[in-house]
Amino acid sequence: MNQMKERELLGIELDILRYPNPLLKKTTEPVTAFDEELAGFVEKLYAAMRAHDGVGLAAPQVGVLKKLAVVEYEGKSYTLINPRVLEKRGEQEGEEGCLSFPGVYAMVKRPEWVRIEFQDMEGQMHVTEAEGFLARAFLHEMDHLDGHLFIDYLTPLKRGAIRKKMMKQARGTSAEPPRAARRR
Ligand code: NI
Repeated sequence: MNQMKERELLGIELDILRYPNPLLKKTTEPVTAFDEELAGFVEKLYAAMRAHDGVGLAAPQVGVLKKLAVVEYEGKSYTLINPRVLEKRGEQEGEEGCLSFPGVYAMVKRPEWVRIEFQDMEGQMHVTEAEGFLARAFLHEMDHLDGHLFIDYLTPLKRGAIRKKMMKQARGTSAEPPRAARRR
């Protein structure tokens, strides 16, 4: 089966941008329209995240500069619209990856516990608490909405090595053929 057909069947319409795409470093605008278009976009974000076995995906990673991210962990889905950290506590260190950095993992320090507020697809405000891995996932995705990446927490030396690896990946054979070729 060709790649395009396969993607169609899986309902994947969004391509995930890879570092060093400049859009990953941009800040984002709040979501203001809680409409069908938003619901459709959220559905596509989940499809793209699941297709790549991700735990989370933020809108800027698909080139949409809006404050919106999805997280899926232990069978629960979290659609975070205009999320904000209210409180954070403690510290944890754990391995982190990112769908915009295929094959790259690094140890990152984060707060152990967070309380966040966010809106749902109807615009209703919610407050939730998370600890451990889920807290890490929320914070990683919320960082994306401010143009911050997990490599920003690493030493310049480690960051440089990852940048080099990603530049090489970008120059090499792309995992996806050019658009014109895919359309056939
Ligand atoms: Ni990420």
